Amino acid sequence: MIRKAKLTDVKAIQALVNQYADSGQMLPRTLNELYEHLRDFHVYEENGALIGVCALHVSWEGLAEIRSLAVRNDRVKNGIGSTLVRHCLEEAVQLEVARVFVLTYQDGFFKKLGFAVIDKKELPHKIWTDCLNCVKFPNCDEIALVTTLPAEPSAK
Ligand SMILES: CC(C)(COP(=O)(O)OP(=O)(O)OC[C@H]1O[C@@H](n2cnc3c(N)ncnc32)[C@H](O)[C@@H]1OP(=O)(O)O)[C@@H](O)C(=O)NCCC(=O)NCCS
Repeated sequence: MIRKAKLTDVKAIQALVNQYADSGQMLPRTLNELYEHLRDFHVYEENGALIGVCALHVSWEGLAEIRSLAVRNDRVKNGIGSTLVRHCLEEAVQLEVARVFVLTYQDGFFKKLGFAVIDKKELPHKIWTDCLNCVKFPNCDEIALVTTLPAEPSAK
């Protein structure tokens, strides 16, 4: 089941994300970041265990970012990652976000979900303020991809 994250999930989220961060596959998250941005996070739970996580972070006018997507390594390739991303995209539609981007090494996975590669320079300057604290700054080697969302059906 997919649900919004709760305070009691934070340590399990950090363990999941930082397991991949340790091998350089994604960026690490501190407990402080996770608590402050907890409301961005969706988790995939199975029999009480946290199997996957994905965050949707609103960045700027009409723009949000997929962050911290991770699926437990013994459960990959079972559709959990794509289900989590689609769930975040549905939330983005409800928020009337027009475009969602991601900075990732998993461009093949995101292309399957309809994302297309863009030049990082096309993203608004605002997003780079978040990058100042990144271990990779200023030599970001992640690939930027973006998807354009349909307008929310109930929107005027
Ligand atoms: C990337 C990740 C989230 C994918 O999760 P997953 O649950 O295995 O993905 P899914 O099973 O939903 O895969 C959906 C499709 O993408 C494909 N896919 C998965 N990972 C892929 C990759 N790295 N490159 C290309 N295609 C990929 C799957 O084969 C599947 O294809 P299909 O629909 O033709 O069968 C997972 O491998 C992971 O946690 N990786 C480590 C952390 C990471 O890199 N996160 C991304 C940070 S932005």
